[in-house]
Amino acid sequence: MIRPRVLRRRLNDGQHRLPLVGFGCWRINHDRVWSLGSWLFNDDNRAARVIYEAIKLGYRYIDGAYFYNIEKAIGYALRRAFADGLVKREQMFITTKVWNNFHSRDRVIENLKISLRELGLSYVDMALIHWPTGFSNGDNVFPMYCNLSNIPRDWEPNSYLETWAGMEDALQLGLTKTIGVANFNIKQLQTLLQNSNIKPVVNQVECNPYYNQIKMLEFCKNNSILMTAYSPLRQGYDLLEEQQLREIAGNHNKTVAQVALRWNIQRGVAVIPKTVNPIHMRQNIYIFDFNLTDQEMQIIDGLKQRPKLLTLGTARSHPDYPFTDGV
Ligand SMILES: NC(=O)c1ccc[n+]([C@@H]2O[C@H](COP(=O)([O-])OP(=O)(O)OC[C@H]3O[C@@H](n4cnc5c(N)ncnc54)[C@H](OP(=O)(O)O)[C@@H]3O)[C@@H](O)[C@H]2O)c1
Repeated sequence: MIRPRVLRRRLNDGQHRLPLVGFGCWRINHDRVWSLGSWLFNDDNRAARVIYEAIKLGYRYIDGAYFYNIEKAIGYALRRAFADGLVKREQMFITTKVWNNFHSRDRVIENLKISLRELGLSYVDMALIHWPTGFSNGDNVFPMYCNLSNIPRDWEPNSYLETWAGMEDALQLGLTKTIGVANFNIKQLQTLLQNSNIKPVVNQVECNPYYNQIKMLEFCKNNSILMTAYSPLRQGYDLLEEQQLREIAGNHNKTVAQVALRWNIQRGVAVIPKTVNPIHMRQNIYIFDFNLTDQEMQIIDGLKQRPKLLTLGTARSHPDYPFTDGV
């Protein structure tokens, strides 16, 4: 089988290279249901089969997280792939994310050690702070007030700086090769850059043609941070029906999903689509064999923007309430 060519981008640590297409692992077991579904409808063996197929097809970057309750399945898939001689550990780029109830400095390490144990690995290639806002410490992944907003760790602004200190510790300890963030807005990134020793290598944010994150992309480029797009297909909703994307897809004999992913790649953004469908899995990685013209890029850049899909139920009055659009 001919393997797809997936470009890699060197990260700002100067050493590690991230494949520009990764395999998204959120909700592999339960498409489009409530977030906590990952804890309710778990099937590690089924999820491991999907992830193994992705590795077999050529995916090398696996986007996981403690919160997705998927790390055991990623571990099963990796062990099978190593045993079958499909890949070696050093060819894979495995990501995890520190969840919100592990935001105090020592709990960052605790969370990463749990993830590594589940994955069956001694290190991950990248660890991210999943959201800038922490929840109260404890076992509950989604601690809530009776009005269903999440209980924050504290009411201080910028308390993710302490979390970042824990991430820097994790790097020193060798638990991860690189560290980055997700869902940070520009102001939070500026504060982090001014108050830390190590720069985040990526900021992973919601981004697709209906939510193009133009200001964030400019900021990331100016600061050598690689922007990574989550929900790059807008979770399979309205975007895939967009008439202008359909026309562009027709010009290249590609699908709308491939055009949406390719547009981000050509803007210098990494993408991490999720799928359990083998046809989609193949389509999503075969996006390096065509080029969108400048005019097509401009048409996509100009698409009417729609509200972002994901926010967090964090107390809205918290100073770090996570909006990712602009300053
Ligand atoms: N850092 C964060 O806070 C954060 C938040 C959200 C997501 N993420 C990461 O980003 C990944 C991707 O985001 P997402 O899962 O929200 O949404 P997404 O990748 O934009 O969309 C997934 C949906 O699109 C469908 N799909 C996938 N490929 C397709 C194709 N080629 N043609 C048609 N439909 C297709 C999938 O259905 P099928 O399975 O049936 O193909 C699924 O319903 C997640 O899995 C996770 O790893 C990170």
